[in-house]
Amino acid sequence: MKQSNREELLSAAEIAGRVQELAAEITAAYAGRKVLLVCVLKGAVVFASDLMRRLDLPVEIDFMAVSSYGSETASSGAVRILKDLDSSIQGKELLIVEDIVDTGLTLDYLCKNLLSRKPKSLKVVTLLDKPARRRVEFIPDFCGFEIPDRFVVGYGLDFNEDYRHLPGIYVLKPEN
Ligand code: PRP
Repeated sequence: MKQSNREELLSAAEIAGRVQELAAEITAAYAGRKVLLVCVLKGAVVFASDLMRRLDLPVEIDFMAVSSYGSETASSGAVRILKDLDSSIQGKELLIVEDIVDTGLTLDYLCKNLLSRKPKSLKVVTLLDKPARRRVEFIPDFCGFEIPDRFVVGYGLDFNEDYRHLPGIYVLKPEN
């Protein structure tokens, strides 16, 4: 894609600064207790890898991959688990790490699913929040940036699997 087809929303330096602040908030909230990061593939992988290295806590990480069932059933909020966690989470302190909350349907489902497995606690950190798109009430415990209702890529977020590697976050402009 040509440079002219994207416009920077958040620079790599702005993201790094906010990730450091979030890490400090999370470190304070857990106060030395061990936290299990649940990274939701694929988009959250860049954020999770930066965040975890800045936490001053005992940390474990595991991964889930989910996909929505499709537009006709999207209102149900049902998501399909493509890859589940490797181990039991019973009694553990879970922190779901997401790149973006949009409609809220994915996290609404994931939280209900994970809570049924009886963790000791469950919180959510998201780098980006698009509250204008919400279809179900969902408030993340920790949030990096609230952003407007624009299609964004970079720092893990994709368009048809492209652009995840970009160090900043960009608004994709329509092709002319
Ligand atoms: C994105 C994001 C969340 C979900 C949020 O994942 O990582 O999981 O969408 O949307 P919602 O609030 O409307 O449910 P996506 O399905 O794009 O998969 P990816 O992370 O593999 O790119």
